[in-house]
Amino acid sequence: MRIDIITIFPQMVEAGLAEGVVGRARTRGVLDIVVHDLRAFTTDRHHVVDDVPFGGGPGMVMKPEPLFAAVEALTERRGAPDAVVMTSPAGKPFLQRDACRLACLGHVVWLCGRYEGIDERVHAALATEEVSIGDYVLSGGELPALVMVDAVARLVPGVVGDEDSIVADSFSRGLLDFPHYTRPAVFRGMRVPDVLLSGHHGQIGRWRRLEALRRTAERRPELLATARLDEDERQMLRELGGSSARKDSEGSE
Ligand code: ADE
Repeated sequence: MRIDIITIFPQMVEAGLAEGVVGRARTRGVLDIVVHDLRAFTTDRHHVVDDVPFGGGPGMVMKPEPLFAAVEALTERRGAPDAVVMTSPAGKPFLQRDACRLACLGHVVWLCGRYEGIDERVHAALATEEVSIGDYVLSGGELPALVMVDAVARLVPGVVGDEDSIVADSFSRGLLDFPHYTRPAVFRGMRVPDVLLSGHHGQIGRWRRLEALRRTAERRPELLATARLDEDERQMLRELGGSSARKDSEGSE
């Protein structure tokens, strides 16, 4: 997969891509990720990438010309990208299903926003999507782009060593992940659940599904509405609902 990231802080982005799973995939040539300095696409002596907002107000706005020039230069060299993602706290939320969708594409470009925002004509005529990584405001789109690239990259075949771990990930079925334990079996008086030491794979699988459901119901109940559950899991959920309802009423007595 080819990924281009356009930013005014290329070193910051390079640093985030140098290590771990993504860094190794780049070294092995599984991922072709290129970081571009937006200022290289300016035509003025001072390499200006921002300007004051029309209508007044605080802060600066990223100019459209360098961003259009950058994507057009890439298009000339490599053909039109399959998606151009613009980072913004005003964008649609980035979800696991977006990571899956983008991971199936051959060529994706990220545009990192800075200042008060990016000129709206970039959204209208250059970006194919405007995406936020959460309801908080960061000082720029570099960290959001790194977050999204990481989530996408690990879904590209050959990037993560053990593909089973991707299938088992949190969100892969719309649920949170179950709790994990490793040795020692007892740590500071805290015991690993007996079932995990039993060697009984059927029971371990059932315990993990139950705990994933329990966690999701407690922490992110809204995910249950769209999670892909089989009949067995629906039954587990009904039982969990009963036990948590009992707990609530016991608590209020
Ligand atoms: N730029 C600043 N904050 C952001 C956010 N939460 N998501 C994406 N881009 C951003």
